[in-house]
Amino acid sequence: MKYKELPTFPKDFFWGASSAAWQVEGATKEDGRSPAIIDLNSQTKKPYADNSVAADHYHHYKEDVALMKECGFTSYRFSLSWSRLIPAEDRKINPKGLEFYNNLINELIAAGITPIITLYHYDMPCWVDEKCGGWRNRSIIEEFDYYCRVCFENFGDRVKYWLSINEQNMQIVYGDWLGVSKGCTDWFKDKWKINHIMNLCHAKAVIACHELVEGGKIGPVPGYVPIYPETCKPEDQIAAMNAEELTQKIWDDLYVFREYNSFTKNYWKEHDIDPDIRPGDMELIEQAKIDFIAVNCYRSDVGKAPDNSYKQEIGLNKTGKKGEFVYPNLPGEYALARNPFVEVTDWDWHIDATCMRYSLRYLWDHYHLPMVITEAGFGGHEDLGEDGKIHDEERINYLREYAFNIGLAIQDGVEVFGFNPWSFTDLLSTGNGMAKRYGLVFVNTTDDDARDLTRHKKDSFTWYSKLIKSNGKDWGTDMTAWQDFQKNK
Ligand code: BG6
Repeated sequence: MKYKELPTFPKDFFWGASSAAWQVEGATKEDGRSPAIIDLNSQTKKPYADNSVAADHYHHYKEDVALMKECGFTSYRFSLSWSRLIPAEDRKINPKGLEFYNNLINELIAAGITPIITLYHYDMPCWVDEKCGGWRNRSIIEEFDYYCRVCFENFGDRVKYWLSINEQNMQIVYGDWLGVSKGCTDWFKDKWKINHIMNLCHAKAVIACHELVEGGKIGPVPGYVPIYPETCKPEDQIAAMNAEELTQKIWDDLYVFREYNSFTKNYWKEHDIDPDIRPGDMELIEQAKIDFIAVNCYRSDVGKAPDNSYKQEIGLNKTGKKGEFVYPNLPGEYALARNPFVEVTDWDWHIDATCMRYSLRYLWDHYHLPMVITEAGFGGHEDLGEDGKIHDEERINYLREYAFNIGLAIQDGVEVFGFNPWSFTDLLSTGNGMAKRYGLVFVNTTDDDARDLTRHKKDSFTWYSKLIKSNGKDWGTDMTAWQDFQKNK
């Protein structure tokens, strides 16, 4: 659909940015925080920095919130560190952990910024891992429920927007990358048991939020990567649908419809997979009615019919040199391919703003639930320039096009209530430390030198601030020409 007018955003639209505790806070050994599995995982990713310092948000939170206010933020999405709040098996709440998050929440609210909190963003406490065997053992359900209740009881008077588990789908699809497969002997089969346990944890969080937080709303955070068929060959279309199911739809359908879809059940049957669903499980999941979907959407992928004569697992680009990404070929399922119609980042992620509009349309058509964007962003190599500034034109272009496509999706009739790109300050990438920066604010630190951690507004900060303060009208460019370009693409 083409429109005569530029898109407009609802007047109370949430404009903000996003982060996660282990990627931004640092201070991993301070004030009673105990180790998390992700600390150990990030230590193995040398030569990249681990998370012991990160952006040192723990000590800079006031300055960071002041910068958010200056930028005009009306929301900020961040996660809580489980091991900072509950450092040991005795389940005693760490007063210093409570104090830190209370201070952060109060600071945000005083600045007119609505907190949106993720309960779990990859940072399982080591004590939970030891006690429960990570996500492998159902005893984690009780621990997770207890942790969520602590969060709702302590912060729910001020925090009304909650997110359960960040990118559960990606944790299962990329098990070893994010440390979830630790201790598994047969990941191909075990991951479905783990996934089911995660679904039960998600359900517990949703139920507890509605029980304990007055006016509280909660949703899951799928990592959404839409899959376009490579050609109009019918086999490519089915392969793209298979990829869609096996990387996203299995999760989204479960969250919304609260039952496993028939594709999932047939897939399990075909591969002799027993996800260990026990009596009472589906009844619990049935009670977990979500209020919205939080969408992380950075890129699209291309699906095509696989070559059934060989198997190739995905090979992530770990160096930031273009062309390193290895596209998977999964016999009987799908293969992925490079999209020649769009550019890629240095880490081979397709830069495709239209995928934002596509994803929002797709999810709205399937699920009819309001959505908030909780991640999208441009990861690049950057350092302070000689003029002491960061001219991040590529990030501005990326954010402008993605935000514009959210506007188009709203014009298309989709209900979207916020945009929180990744990330506010620079912070650690999941696998590439500070070498891959996403921030609107540069943090003066590198992978091999902690430097002075000072904050420097990038050009994207200034551009985004104007967009926010005009509630999505000042795109910082001649939008008539730009819109024509969009229409004619
Ligand atoms: C999202 C995660 O999938 O992608 C974030 O929720 C992550 O934690 C972000 O940082 C970007 O990915 P990466 O690998 O570039 O850090």
